[in-house]
Amino acid sequence: MALTHLICVTSIWLQALASATKLYSTYSFNPLEHLGGIAPYFEPQDPPTSPSPPRGCKAVRAAYLSRHAAIYLNDFDYEEYIQPFIEKWENHTSIDWSKIPTLSFLADWSPPFSEAEQEILTRVGKLEATQLGVDLSFRYPELRLPRRIWTSSAERTFKSAQALVRGFELQDNTINVVSVDESKQSGANSLTPYKSCPGYSSSAGSDQSSHYLEKFTKPIMARLNALAPGFDFTADDVYGMMQLCGYESVTRGSSPFCSLDLFSPDEWLAWEYTEDIRYHYNVGYGSPVAGVFGLPWFNTSASLLMAANSSSTEDLYFSFTHRELPPAVLVAMGLFNNSAFGGTGDSINDTMPLDRINHRRAWKSSHILPFLSNIAIEKLQCEESHGFGDGEYYRVLVNGAPQELPDCADGPGTTCSREGFSSYVQARAGMFGGFSEKCGVDYDNSTDVLTIYTDQRFGNGTKVGKKRSMWGSDGHEQYE
Ligand SMILES: *[C@@H]1O[C@H](CO)[C@@H](O)[C@H](O)[C@H]1NC(C)=O
Ligand SMILES: *[C@@H]1O[C@H](CO)[C@@H](O)[C@H](O)[C@H]1NC(C)=O
Ligand SMILES: *[C@@H]1O[C@H](CO)[C@@H](O)[C@H](O)[C@H]1NC(C)=O
Ligand SMILES: *[C@@H]1O[C@H](CO)[C@@H](O)[C@H](O)[C@H]1NC(C)=O
Ligand SMILES: *[C@@H]1O[C@H](CO)[C@@H](O)[C@H](O)[C@H]1NC(C)=O
Ligand SMILES: *[C@@H]1O[C@H](CO)[C@@H](O)[C@H](O)[C@H]1NC(C)=O
Ligand SMILES: *[C@@H]1O[C@H](CO)[C@@H](O)[C@H](O)[C@H]1NC(C)=O
Repeated sequence: MALTHLICVTSIWLQALASATKLYSTYSFNPLEHLGGIAPYFEPQDPPTSPSPPRGCKAVRAAYLSRHAAIYLNDFDYEEYIQPFIEKWENHTSIDWSKIPTLSFLADWSPPFSEAEQEILTRVGKLEATQLGVDLSFRYPELRLPRRIWTSSAERTFKSAQALVRGFELQDNTINVVSVDESKQSGANSLTPYKSCPGYSSSAGSDQSSHYLEKFTKPIMARLNALAPGFDFTADDVYGMMQLCGYESVTRGSSPFCSLDLFSPDEWLAWEYTEDIRYHYNVGYGSPVAGVFGLPWFNTSASLLMAANSSSTEDLYFSFTHRELPPAVLVAMGLFNNSAFGGTGDSINDTMPLDRINHRRAWKSSHILPFLSNIAIEKLQCEESHGFGDGEYYRVLVNGAPQELPDCADGPGTTCSREGFSSYVQARAGMFGGFSEKCGVDYDNSTDVLTIYTDQRFGNGTKVGKKRSMWGSDGHEQYE
């Protein structure tokens, strides 16, 4: 009797708990935050540390490195995955998509871009780069505006720099943009040092990521092929459709390919993981040269920040590059390392298994290299920061989130002291210095050091002008 009573009470209690759980369930999922290199800019708060300077501290100088803002399409993604899928869809006119659940939008969908638009910034991209310029003015109201900012020479990086300047400057034409050639022989002295590093292969990581791609797309292919017999969805089609979620969103503002009825949250997480494996081997801890071509920016920026005030120093150094460089700089800095904090038993490659997801990984490409992803190093002046001496401190932010550098945490908050920072940079230079040798450079005018910020040969750059000065007389935008 007592026992049945107890069971009865327990079950009522469990029911109450279950409904309470349901009532308070807050599960929500946004695929746009899991799209790796196609993710529109967002600040994932990874970790959720406060971007405000620690109590008593203020930023007196900063150096930024940013990936360009959102583009219509990457040509490789287009040719490999998206174009074949679109062609197939155009070919299969006999399938009545309107009757097929979750794919009915394909009955009257149209591709969001033309081939001519590949690789150029979208409106969203321009807007977000301009917004970042405004954000910088909010973040650093006391810093002098830079006279120059730097960018690698591709159109999408150059235009990102111009858009940022338009948001940042108060009067027209006060901030120049310096274009740095994407040369294959620049050694470490460019914003695209991977291009001049023969040891880097742009296809590294493809083999490894294809294992998990094959695994996670299998059930999706079976499901889609049952819905639309005859189309013969392949793993590459699924991959391209998931890419379209990102590219169509930054072009049109939304995309039916992002629907969670089409691909579930776990399927998006699986897509993201294949990308994380690829970037791990391509530009991350699994690459023998990523830290090597990531170091020059870190080392040079640290020197610029630590240098004494002079008429030639900028308060803010800003540079635009492509997706390969920011993750490599993070390796040089020792951030987002899956093995940090005790995972030393395994080799770094074991932390990214090819047959299942390591959900606890620190290395998440969506957090590291979305469009407009940016890394900042700040020099702070601290006074009366309780428990710490007055003076200079340094910290790193990734997409607005302050990061603690391993072995460099002797300051307030996530900062470290000038001495600590200086010896940390030296230790990293010890690990990753020697660009020409470690990259196996095969031309004879290489250099191991990035000097574009001080080298007069790179000139003073060009004015940006108002947006309408970019328009030709025929009303079409001019692309250089
Ligand atoms: C489209 O159809 C044509 C003619 O049947 C065929 O040659 C072509 O390979 C098809 N393309 C794709 C991507 O399926
Ligand atoms: C080496 O020479 C090439 C060709 O003139 C040039 O593009 C490159 O910038 C030079 N490299 C350095 C480090 O100056
Ligand atoms: C990780 O794998 C890459 C590619 O196979 C290899 O070059 C690298 O040496 C490996 N790293 C370690 C620490 O074993
Ligand atoms: C350098 O300049 C900054 C900004 O003008 C100022 O806050 C700082 O006190 C100066 N530092 C030195 C050592 O003069
Ligand atoms: C990653 O962390 C492990 C464990 O602390 C460390 O041994 C390794 O050197 C780190 N890798 C890099 C490139 O900093
Ligand atoms: C780091 O930068 C300093 C100052 O520019 C330079 O003298 C040094 O050679 C650089 N070290 C490496 C390993 O690149
Ligand atoms: C760049 O500006 C500086 C200072 O205004 C000037 O001395 C120098 O000649 C300029 N260089 C070029 C290449 O225009």
